Amino acid sequence: MSAARPRCVLAYSGGLDTSVAVHWLTHEQGYDVVTCSVDLGGETKADRVLQERAVRAGAIAAHVVDAKALFLQHFVFPSLATGARYQGVYPLATALGRPLIARLLVDIAREEGAGVVAHGCTGKGNDQVRFDVAVAALAPDLRVAAPVRDWDMGRPDEIAYAQRHQIPVPVTRESPYSVDANLWGRSVETGVLEDPWQEPPADAYQWTVDPATAPAEGQVLELHFETGVPTAIDGEVLDPVALVVRCNELGGRHGVGRIDHVEDRLVGIKSREVYEAPAAVILDTAHRALESLTLSRDVLRFKAQVADEWARLVYDGLWYSALRQNLWAFAASTQAAVTGDVRLRVGRGAVQVIGRKSPTSLYQAGLATYDRADDRFAHQAAEGFISLFGLPLRTQAAVQGTLEAAGPQPLLPQARRRLSAGEVTP
Ligand code: ARG
Repeated sequence: MSAARPRCVLAYSGGLDTSVAVHWLTHEQGYDVVTCSVDLGGETKADRVLQERAVRAGAIAAHVVDAKALFLQHFVFPSLATGARYQGVYPLATALGRPLIARLLVDIAREEGAGVVAHGCTGKGNDQVRFDVAVAALAPDLRVAAPVRDWDMGRPDEIAYAQRHQIPVPVTRESPYSVDANLWGRSVETGVLEDPWQEPPADAYQWTVDPATAPAEGQVLELHFETGVPTAIDGEVLDPVALVVRCNELGGRHGVGRIDHVEDRLVGIKSREVYEAPAAVILDTAHRALESLTLSRDVLRFKAQVADEWARLVYDGLWYSALRQNLWAFAASTQAAVTGDVRLRVGRGAVQVIGRKSPTSLYQAGLATYDRADDRFAHQAAEGFISLFGLPLRTQAAVQGTLEAAGPQPLLPQARRRLSAGEVTP
């Protein structure tokens, strides 16, 4: 082999696709391949296994990066603070991981003097877009290669290719699903899940027990947040990784965090997706509860729009866009007051908020109370307020008549039940 071969940095999971890709990029495309395996706290293989497999498939070097803490600090917690869920449900685990992996690929490409980065995504998903666009934003001079998208091989062809070239084929039983997992959740697709009418089989779930078999009594826990970031469970201060791991375990034991929905992919396909995201569901529920106490009605309303937009951008692979950054400037500025505690009951698949408190709470007992003695609310002022608040409707009714969907006729005759005097038993 000549020393002048160009270098390519490949995102490497140790699975069949990316193992074949190492060989294919080396022999069909003429690269020296450097692999990069990023641990985001999913179901990743041991470092040594990844490195051995990469080298045996033909890589000239194999990097393994523990990016769990970076992932939470720079990607997950900002998304949690923003309150983002794609299409109202998906906490974006996979979508949040891709821009970080892309960033690390670029860093390694710089270190290794590579002009190309590569990933193992297919041509039907969102992940290819996320990688390609993130790399384009971070390093426009780098080329992105997507061998699995380019080659014309199905799984049996890949196995045959691997056997032909003595690439070790993972011996573990092949999962019937396509899975991506990190600390923020586990994404499960394909196989029998492709029928949206069919209930996901038990084996689709690995992190959560069936809610029906979870302990009936459930469990109460208290979460502490500092300016929008979760920092402690039941009074015990934990680093972000330990805290999220704890929430995943705890939620998993109680069957919390199963999400089954039909999602709109960026590439125009509706897809049935199953997620397990116990920590994301627990922390998002708690964070929302704390915000309901500490943020004004207007901020909450506007922030919901920002969250929706954020979710769309992140889902669509536009993490490194100016708009996503600008939205963060807004969301971050709302979090100064989001400090306090939330008490939750988790059990049988549900998360229930049962208490919340904050030193910056906007909840004022003296205003909320119905107890006359402590009441500080100006009842008389309500009348003047309502008179002006209702003024536009009174004007409208006077000029344009009543706008009433059920028509101008009295509704009472249609709804009335009446007894004549003789039917009443004294
Ligand atoms: N539909 C999700 C998303 O686009 C999950 C993708 C999971 N990827 C996978 N290889 N199974 O974010």
